[in-house]
Amino acid sequence: MPRHVLVTGGATGIGRACAARFAKAGDQVWITGRRAEALEATAAELGAHAVVCDGSDPDQLARLREALPARIDVLVNNAGGNTDFDGEPGEGLHALAAAWRANLEANLLTAVLTTAAVRDRLADGGAVVSVGSIAADHGNGSYGPAKAALASWNVGLAGELGGAGVTANVVSPGYIADTEFFRDKLTDARRTTLIEATNTGRAGTPEDIAGTVAYLASPDARHVTGQVLAVNGGAHPSR
Ligand SMILES: NC(=O)c1ccc[n+]([C@@H]2O[C@H](COP(=O)([O-])OP(=O)(O)OC[C@H]3O[C@@H](n4cnc5c(N)ncnc54)[C@H](OP(=O)(O)O)[C@@H]3O)[C@@H](O)[C@H]2O)c1
Repeated sequence: MPRHVLVTGGATGIGRACAARFAKAGDQVWITGRRAEALEATAAELGAHAVVCDGSDPDQLARLREALPARIDVLVNNAGGNTDFDGEPGEGLHALAAAWRANLEANLLTAVLTTAAVRDRLADGGAVVSVGSIAADHGNGSYGPAKAALASWNVGLAGELGGAGVTANVVSPGYIADTEFFRDKLTDARRTTLIEATNTGRAGTPEDIAGTVAYLASPDARHVTGQVLAVNGGAHPSR
């Protein structure tokens, strides 16, 4: 029986690689995002279902629910990004509050609300995998703290879902190339610094993350839950 997989932010970058990996394995895949054109193009290429949905909007999530099957085996909370890259920083407390709210909405609330929207459909033996960031360990304005909050939320979620036979984990990528994450904000010098920080001497790829997500959603990972799994080439070692 094919698994039913929902990947938020599945049109581009890491989400697209995750959707492609599950589709290639024979799973039925639903992808979401805010831009219909990008979403539909990816869905057509992968043989996935596209549902336009802003994961921070409760009304759009209610509509997403209607478009989804009664059973969800795997939820990948991938939607997000550093919203500071979407514009120039403003000045004053109002601008600061708006910038923090934007990153918390994009990276924490999308996962919290999407998971709540499909929670009663998560199947025994299923998995929730959320995409965090190395930024959670480094600070990084409001983006890092939002990803740190995602990891903290995951701890509670793993406890809540454990009895239903569902695991909950975070994959924490380092620098991943070939995504839209950095918009036009990544200089050559910064890219070189990020790669030099690794032990592998290269940027991560979306497929590196998709492989780890696939593992966490696999039968091999049934006793792995409540964890943060870093995929960063050693740029931030853990103990
Ligand atoms: N690339 C890196 O170096 C890196 C490193 C660490 C962590 N990450 C994390 O990896 C995840 C995927 O990012 P990426 O690198 O693949 O960049 P990306 O290509 O920009 O992908 C992000 C996707 O999320 C979607 N999205 C954003 N906000 C959304 C919302 N409110 N509702 C629904 N969809 C939304 C975007 O589509 P729409 O704009 O059409 O909605 C886009 O398809 C993010 O959580 C990011 O924080 C990336």
